[in-house]
Amino acid sequence: MVELKSAAELDAMREAGRVVARALEEVVRHAAVGVRLEELDEVAATVIAGAGATSAFLHYHPPFAPTPYPAVTCVSVNDVIVHGIPGRYQLRDGDLVSVDCGAYLDGWAGDSAVSFSVGSPRAGDTALIEAAERALRAGIEAAVPGNRMGDIGHAVASVASAGGYGVPVDFGGHGIGRRMHEDPHVPNHGRPGRGLVLRPGLVLAIEPMFIAGGHSRYLTAADGWSLCSVDGSRAAHAEHTVAITDDGPRILTLP
Ligand code: MF3
Ligand code: CO
Repeated sequence: MVELKSAAELDAMREAGRVVARALEEVVRHAAVGVRLEELDEVAATVIAGAGATSAFLHYHPPFAPTPYPAVTCVSVNDVIVHGIPGRYQLRDGDLVSVDCGAYLDGWAGDSAVSFSVGSPRAGDTALIEAAERALRAGIEAAVPGNRMGDIGHAVASVASAGGYGVPVDFGGHGIGRRMHEDPHVPNHGRPGRGLVLRPGLVLAIEPMFIAGGHSRYLTAADGWSLCSVDGSRAAHAEHTVAITDDGPRILTLP
């Protein structure tokens, strides 16, 4: 069931989104050569706890995963597309890192992700990251009343195909509100003018994930969570929680 949020509820979601944005900012600030992924997770956990919020990821157990999620962020390095578990791996120069974070504040969820290079970017990585960000912006611009879900997916997929990037087909964004994952599903592909009509009060997590190698298949790693590109090529991910309003898209996970 798709639930629409009131103006007051959107204001409350904005506060949850702000916590997530702050956590991501701090993680990006701490990321450097030699830093362990679990240290980055600790940074996000500290921001979330300090804000009186709770993690939306820790212990989360969706049907596709074999075990509850063990961290407060997903940290996906290089060929890991999304859902990388932050462990003891130490960042190296040129690593492409995607960090995804979600939190609950006062009963409302926020969910956002950013990608960046550590040290000197590898050839092609900056273009890949910028394409994912551009696709997110294009998806957000399509999130206006009267448009349909297919307009968002089409906007995202057009940026991918223009750059020759692949998009994993069964993963995408989602409705979000009192729970992190709500209806509707927000595919990263679609036909313009098709699908659910977007109404004011609908809140969506829009999250393009692009694979440099251009194919759309992925593998699940031995940990049961990390999704990896089949050819070892790198991937980037960008995500915001966005409300559809009469005044246009309102991004709830900006700092
Ligand atoms: N933004 C990711 C998603 O919506 C967050 C995954 S949370 C996890 O799929 F806990 F499942 F890792
Ligand atoms: Co999400």
